[in-house]
Amino acid sequence: MSAKPQILLEFVEQGVVRGVLEAYRTSPGHAEIALSLEDGYRGQGHGRRLFEAGLMHLQSGGFRTIELHCLASNTAVLRLVSARGGEIHSHRGETYATLSLATPAGAEPDTAGVGLSGVV
Ligand SMILES: CC(C)(COP(=O)(O)OP(=O)(O)OC[C@H]1O[C@@H](n2cnc3c(N)ncnc32)[C@H](O)[C@@H]1OP(=O)(O)O)[C@@H](O)C(=O)NCCC(=O)NCCS
Repeated sequence: MSAKPQILLEFVEQGVVRGVLEAYRTSPGHAEIALSLEDGYRGQGHGRRLFEAGLMHLQSGGFRTIELHCLASNTAVLRLVSARGGEIHSHRGETYATLSLATPAGAEPDTAGVGLSGVV
């Protein structure tokens, strides 16, 4: 896996980056993503906007599936994945989610404040 992300999204509020989503291509059509918001900016819907924007860019970039690794106790990110029909797996104490991008998201997602920082 390249150390350089294919997609880097930033959530910016009042000119300051408060959250990022990185997506790495791990095999053809498949990306591993990671997202994080600064403390104090969580639980306000910004994570959903970042996540939805990430899926939108990956889908239009030709990716068909994604995976995401997290703690089993990470309710927030697991809710984001489940809301998009993703599956949660546990293997040897590790939790990860997989999601197909084949199905269109439906209505245009709310991605306010989220901008593309880099696409390779
Ligand atoms: C994971 C993360 C990006 C989610 O972003 P967020 O802005 O906090 O999440 P949102 O406010 O968009 O909420 C998303 C969903 O999780 C729920 N949620 C948010 N915080 C929660 C909490 N502390 N406990 C339970 N549910 C929570 C929301 O209610 C929402 O679900 P709903 O739409 O079904 O009501 C953020 O919490 C974070 O940066 N965590 C640390 C890094 C991390 O764990 N990254 C994931 C692994 S790559």
